[in-house]
Amino acid sequence: MNKDYLKLMDLAKDSIRYAYAPYSKFRVGAALLMTDGSVYTGCNVENASYGLSICAERVAIAKAISAGKRDLRAIAVIAEKSEVTPCGACRQFISEFGTDIDVIYIKDGHIVVKKIADLLPEAFNSACL
Ligand code: THU
Repeated sequence: MNKDYLKLMDLAKDSIRYAYAPYSKFRVGAALLMTDGSVYTGCNVENASYGLSICAERVAIAKAISAGKRDLRAIAVIAEKSEVTPCGACRQFISEFGTDIDVIYIKDGHIVVKKIADLLPEAFNSACL
């Protein structure tokens, strides 16, 4: 396993502490690595109006984009209670910024790395418009 990706997973794990998940109690952390080496972290942020809740991955991506960074290299995601893979909305959100982005998560107790294009094949993107 790429050492940068192990570190990214550690940063995602650290970010769980900031999760605001009083409704689901499902606390999630994410860490996003940009091609320039910078990292943006995120946690899930829930809302009393449940549908407004936002996932950890999208928080991290919004932080990067709002800092003027658009070149995503990899994103790690981890939950406190059980294994997690990015939800469909997050796969679409990640896909917006490329097909070659690595997604890192834990499956059956092992860290796995998959390209976003494999997690969301035939994604709807700007080329479709
Ligand atoms: N959640 C994430 O933050 N990331 C995922 O990839 C899956 C789900 C959050 C959303 C919600 O706050 C909680 O987990 C339960 O669905």
